[in-house]
Amino acid sequence: MVEGKWFQPGADAAEAFAIREKVFGRGRDDMDKESWNVLVWFAGEPAATGRLWWREGAFWLGDIAVLPELRGRRLGDLTLRLLLFKAETHAARLLRLVSPMDVTGFFAKLGFKPEGEAAGGQQPMLLRGEDLCLDTCKGCKKDCPNRKD
Ligand SMILES: CC(C)(COP(=O)(O)OP(=O)(O)OC[C@H]1O[C@@H](n2cnc3c(N)ncnc32)[C@H](O)[C@@H]1OP(=O)(O)O)[C@@H](O)C(=O)NCCC(=O)NCCS
Repeated sequence: MVEGKWFQPGADAAEAFAIREKVFGRGRDDMDKESWNVLVWFAGEPAATGRLWWREGAFWLGDIAVLPELRGRRLGDLTLRLLLFKAETHAARLLRLVSPMDVTGFFAKLGFKPEGEAAGGQQPMLLRGEDLCLDTCKGCKKDCPNRKD
């Protein structure tokens, strides 16, 4: 079973910080005093995390990480959607992040576009609130219970 849990700014999200440490080599930091952290469990074990904070007129997403052995199971997609949903509930108009060059395609799937020049192997990306779409159906015409004619 997959579950998600939010930690408010300043909370001790130890299991989320442990995943961040394992994936990025750095754990809890001062930014956690102002960030919402999300933790996703897979089969009863902590599996993925990410965080969201407000700065200079935009919501920023960062440190989205899935444990290496659990990648490719859509846990990254779920983590990103949880962060975007949280921002959406705060009527976000601008969503920003900085992506490693080899991960931009992952963020592009939910609408992020490059913003400005890449530097140091990192690409700034932007998603405007009006372009945010968390509808997994994406208006396809397949025969399913969610179809609206
Ligand atoms: C990037 C990361 C979070 C993806 O997590 P994941 O659980 O493996 O990804 P998912 O299984 O949810 O993939 C969702 C979709 O994104 C695609 N995708 C995943 N990684 C991708 C990448 N690096 N580039 C392009 N597309 C990617 C998948 O193919 C899938 O596509 P689909 O919808 O067509 O099936 C994970 O690889 C990771 O933790 N990487 C290291 C940390 C990192 O670089 N984080 C980003 C910086 S904030």
